[in-house]
Amino acid sequence: MAYNIVTIVGSLRKESFSLKIANALAKLAPASLKLDVTTLNGISFFNQDLEAAPPADWLAFREKLQKSNGVLFVTPEYNRSIPGVLKNAIDVGSRPYGKSSFLGKPTGIISNSPGPLGGVSAAKHLQNILPGISGPILGQPETYLNGCGDGFDDKGELTKESLKAVLVQYLDAFAAFIEKQNR
Ligand SMILES: Cc1cc2nc3c(=O)[nH]c(=O)nc-3n(C[C@H](O)[C@H](O)[C@H](O)COP(=O)(O)O)c2cc1C
Repeated sequence: MAYNIVTIVGSLRKESFSLKIANALAKLAPASLKLDVTTLNGISFFNQDLEAAPPADWLAFREKLQKSNGVLFVTPEYNRSIPGVLKNAIDVGSRPYGKSSFLGKPTGIISNSPGPLGGVSAAKHLQNILPGISGPILGQPETYLNGCGDGFDDKGELTKESLKAVLVQYLDAFAAFIEKQNR
């Protein structure tokens, strides 16, 4: 049986590099992992007023997380942090108070950018946001993918060998981590 990993894409853009990276990871993943590439389209804005009767999209997102064996964030960086849609989804998944759907889930973080810094600030912000509401976070290999703009062909398939090698290296470590945490 493969471990089910909710792989959260931090960008809504159709041609998103984060989405293409998540899809590439799903294809490269070892047999022990099934990466469920999850975009955040349709997740309502978090509003504490709605907590008594949460919208169906919040409940579906929370249930998906609860049923998973782990979570992997693949995110770009917006203005040196994570995109608002991703923070919103994390807020949705983190509630009700004390019952975060991320709780106990082994977690991975991959940031990316077409620029030179690989979205490292976004990854660091996730490392600040998550500890109180998630499970253990894989620390190494730190994976901030830079120069992603020329990594894919016109069908969105990964073509850059150097990028592929980094993804495979990450998946090896992440698979071992998931196995250990789910034992
Ligand atoms: C509002 C906004 C802010 C951005 N800020 C950053 C940034 O701080 N660091 C960075 O490397 N790229 C930044 N970018 C460029 C993104 O890395 C680039 O648009 C990337 O393609 C977005 O990710 P996606 O391809 O997954 O949609 C920003 C883009 C937008 C739209």
